[in-house]
Amino acid sequence: VESDAGAIVSLYRDVAAPPGGLARDVDEISPEYVGTFLARAVEDGVGFVAVPAEQSPGPPRLAGELHAYPPGPRAFAHLLGELTVAVHPDWQGRGVGRALFAALLSEVERHRPQVTRVELVARESNARAIGLYESLGFRREGRLEGRVRRQDGVVEADIPMAWVRNRS
Ligand SMILES: CC(C)(COP(=O)(O)OP(=O)(O)OC[C@H]1O[C@@H](n2cnc3c(N)ncnc32)[C@H](O)[C@@H]1OP(=O)(O)O)[C@@H](O)C(=O)NCCC(=O)NCCS
Repeated sequence: VESDAGAIVSLYRDVAAPPGGLARDVDEISPEYVGTFLARAVEDGVGFVAVPAEQSPGPPRLAGELHAYPPGPRAFAHLLGELTVAVHPDWQGRGVGRALFAALLSEVERHRPQVTRVELVARESNARAIGLYESLGFRREGRLEGRVRRQDGVVEADIPMAWVRNRS
């Protein structure tokens, strides 16, 4: 994943441009931001990229990226958090997001027995994202009122969600 850093910066800038998805604006997507999350994903987390089968000439382009990693303190070593998923606008609605999550949950279920919880946060208006996460077994765990500002200045609720291994 680390070798894809430049392509991931481009991807995240394209994904951040339309409002209502990522929490960061385009000018907040820096090589440092991407380098930091990639380093954490490689160190003790997970990261996946979706690569289109056909590439046009020029720098490589990605269809999507997903990463997550433990928050830090040892008490949280059994969970993956800080999760971000980004699918390029040209590729949204074509199964890329679902495929990235399938790869994540397959990796966790097969190869990461110590990981018993995967958590994320989605803005309340992002119905497509929340619907996708619920269909994958994530559950809403509350409503963080007034947490996230949209580019138009309106502040909305964030929805914390989690997938828990072997949940009854
Ligand atoms: C949210 C996001 C990750 C979903 O990925 P995606 O590749 O577009 O979604 P998929 O094609 O895998 O579709 C997953 C589900 O979303 C729903 N969906 C897809 N397109 C949709 C649309 N245009 N409208 C409503 N729901 C839609 C469907 O329920 C679909 O389920 P299905 O597989 O049973 O058909 C992606 O759109 C994205 O990156 N958006 C911008 C950034 C963002 O919002 N990130 C998440 C922050 S929490």
